[in-house]
Amino acid sequence: MIRLGVLISGRGSNFEAISNAINVGKLDAEIAVVISNRASAAGLEIARDRGIPMRVIPSQGIDREKYDGLVIEELRTHEVELVCLAGFMRLLSASFVQAFPNRVINIHPSLLPAFPGLDAQKQAVEYGVKIAGCTVHFVDEFLDSGPIILQTAVPVLDKDTLESLSARILLQEHMTYWRAIQMIAEERVSVEGRRVVISDAA
Ligand code: GAR
Repeated sequence: MIRLGVLISGRGSNFEAISNAINVGKLDAEIAVVISNRASAAGLEIARDRGIPMRVIPSQGIDREKYDGLVIEELRTHEVELVCLAGFMRLLSASFVQAFPNRVINIHPSLLPAFPGLDAQKQAVEYGVKIAGCTVHFVDEFLDSGPIILQTAVPVLDKDTLESLSARILLQEHMTYWRAIQMIAEERVSVEGRRVVISDAA
């Protein structure tokens, strides 16, 4: 079973959805550790309730390389094989990405490369796109820019508010992230330049 390290900064609903998928047997993985850069992250409560090992490694006032070194150490201690960013609101250094080559993934609430960065759903509403969505991608040292593994489209309705659209995108995030992890666990995912190729299930 693939050992996951889940990095969070806040609510933790994507972490919860991954954990749920494991609990119902849809995802063959184990969450080895949850790491938050904020002690106040609500997701830590979910980890505590479920008995999942968790650590807070505060990021404030620490140099990026040094911080990433601390996180890498913790991930190694827990023998993590795949790092899943789930609302982890920090850019990773090149040395972090190199420590886990093609083994760091992220979920982002837009159809990348549209609307990278903060408040992706708000950017989509303000731009007036008709199709929004979410993306699971490999992480490189740039913002929301690595090769794309899976995307799910979400239509924008005329009556949508930022809240209603964000809620529908989040629902799709919760169904998309564990599917991407399962494909990686089944060793069906390979990276060819910017393209990710997914082979058929056995
Ligand atoms: C999610 O919508 C995730 O896609 C987004 O933060 C939210 C975290 O929610 N991530 C990014 O914007 C990364 N660029 P959660 O803590 O409930 O999973």
